[in-house]
Amino acid sequence: MRTNNLHTWLIQARQRLSAFSETPELELQVLAAHELGQTRTWVIAHPALELTYQQEGRLNAMLDQLIQGVPLPYLTGRCEFFGLSFHVSPQVLIPRPETELLVDTALQWLKDHPHRRCVADVGTGSGIIGVTLAHLVPGVSIVATDISAEALEIARENANTHQLEDRIQFVHGDLLHGVSAHFDLICANLPYIPAKTLTKLSVARHEPRIALDGGPDGLDQIQRLVANAEQWITPGGMMLMEIESSQGESAPSLARKYHPNAQISVQEDLSGHPRLLTIQWN
Ligand SMILES: C[S@@+](CC[C@H](N)C(=O)[O-])C[C@H]1O[C@@H](n2cnc3c(N)ncnc32)[C@H](O)[C@@H]1O
Repeated sequence: MRTNNLHTWLIQARQRLSAFSETPELELQVLAAHELGQTRTWVIAHPALELTYQQEGRLNAMLDQLIQGVPLPYLTGRCEFFGLSFHVSPQVLIPRPETELLVDTALQWLKDHPHRRCVADVGTGSGIIGVTLAHLVPGVSIVATDISAEALEIARENANTHQLEDRIQFVHGDLLHGVSAHFDLICANLPYIPAKTLTKLSVARHEPRIALDGGPDGLDQIQRLVANAEQWITPGGMMLMEIESSQGESAPSLARKYHPNAQISVQEDLSGHPRLLTIQWN
């Protein structure tokens, strides 16, 4: 049976995908690079490559999934965050660029507090927050927790890939319950989407509900962690929690209720939306 060369396949696939994606060319190049075990630059440089029957079959099957809305990182199994490559699967949330604000803020705090090196990453998912901090800050030691054993397995794999397994302890459990340590910095990107909003979002069809669903107002898990924070934070410690854009007032007022003497603020992301709740203890 006659197969296409790479160029022809990319053109035909683009015609099919363009109605469903804003960046069809890029996505198809990434898909082809994944299938061929090459880089995207290599794909662009080899338009005349004759695809085998099997390669074209697998590419078309992945294209069908893309058209059905399956996120590209679930097809390639990889996602970039903060310049590092992470393994992802449908068991974990796909890392979002918004989370870079939390990591940036954590890095600045650790720089300003060079003797504070005990960090928690609550709801670690694929491990992006803990792994990135351990990679970039020598001497930092991390406890990363998740209620999903499957997610924790992926986070552990990502720590191993970046040779950080000695610096990150993985704990399967609810928030920080069962962890006896105290932390200078607690980072958490817990599920925060209000349940009703979630029913309207396409992400809910593909990404794990346990990573997204924050209960009626989206604050269920955030409230539980904030309420118990003093069990786990050291004096003068900091807590950073990613929030949904609609929680710019409800999240800090919740934090004020439990910690009236702490300094509480909300930072905006690059799109100008409330995105990060910070609680700094005195
Ligand atoms: C929004 S995802 C964030 C994943 C990752 N930290 C990131 O930034 O991409 C939330 C994560 O919290 C975990 N989670 C949900 N409820 C939890 C709980 N009560 N205790 C610990 N982890 C929880 C989910 O399994 C999921 O991996």
